[in-house]
Amino acid sequence: MNHLNEINTATLQAWLDNGHNVEVIDIRPRQDYEAWHIPGSLNVDAYQAIYAHSPGPLAQYNPPDGQQVVVVCFVGQTSKVAAQYLGSRGIEAISLAGGMQSWSLSWNTADVPLAHNNTVIVQVRRTGKGCLSYLLISDGEAVVIDPSVNAHVYKDLAAQRDCQIVKVLDTHIHADHLSRSLALAALTGATHYLPKQNRTHFEHQALDPGEVITFGSSRLEAIHTPGHTFESMSFLLDGAALFSGDTLFLDSVGRPDLKADREETEIRARALHRTLQDLAAMDPEIIILPCHSSQPVPFDHIPLASPLGAVLKNVPALGYDEEQFSSWILARIPANPQNYEKIVQLNEGGLFPVQDPTLLEAGANMCAI
Ligand SMILES: [Fe+2]
Repeated sequence: MNHLNEINTATLQAWLDNGHNVEVIDIRPRQDYEAWHIPGSLNVDAYQAIYAHSPGPLAQYNPPDGQQVVVVCFVGQTSKVAAQYLGSRGIEAISLAGGMQSWSLSWNTADVPLAHNNTVIVQVRRTGKGCLSYLLISDGEAVVIDPSVNAHVYKDLAAQRDCQIVKVLDTHIHADHLSRSLALAALTGATHYLPKQNRTHFEHQALDPGEVITFGSSRLEAIHTPGHTFESMSFLLDGAALFSGDTLFLDSVGRPDLKADREETEIRARALHRTLQDLAAMDPEIIILPCHSSQPVPFDHIPLASPLGAVLKNVPALGYDEEQFSSWILARIPANPQNYEKIVQLNEGGLFPVQDPTLLEAGANMCAI
């Protein structure tokens, strides 16, 4: 098979972003597809069949008229065989090089309009993992919160909007993805801010609760929101939007158990309850902008954002008392994310793996309860 029968993830990302007429078929087993997949893709579970040298359900597959077919698997090998088979049936199909492992780094964006604030907010979504990061722009100066894709992406987005990244912030020490904050600070000369804690071993600006970070004519207030981790902070933009990290999502709350034993998990669960009670008492018009989505993020340019009032209705547990909340959360702790201990170790050390980061970061996000 020659290289023209493959495309890379950057090309597929651009096609999906531009509404190109393409059908993505995912030949992985059903359970792998359900765990995470490319938005809008179709599962044709042919993986085992292809291993047995049979086309399996691909024999019945027919693309919609005129659509380009892209075949995806785990790492882009079996999908080549599938594309070749479809080609033998006269269907023009190409394989996604690197498969879902490479797709893990793909991203898209959505602007977040605010009713009474001129700060430009660009939500940068790492679509496969559901990681949400933010580029905030005010009078030519920009801040990035929780960068989770390549540092050059933010630098390029800032250049397109004629602004300079001056500050990079993390809401907490992440466990599901490798922070790109240090790389972005090095690339742009920006100052890197982290909540004050004693976990990290690299130079940064430590943030105290209540501290205010300014850029252009905008201000971000650091609010200590312990629970998901002890150091977790949320950042309130001019009283209009809250970057809530992994503390509060649009339809769930952060998990309190990672890197904790049962006793510490319960302490964190109770801290999270107090934190969420404080957040719930804020202005219901405040727009909540979390660090994750539980689903792959579509290429629709629609921001994942909701007013606090709507989030309160979506998450009934925010109305529980401390005992109810603690028992509820402890009964629902999900499986640990893949490789999270190694990811935490690297993030605490300010390190980035020499090898492909997607090997460590594979799989869907699992930060929410
Ligand atoms: Fe997290």
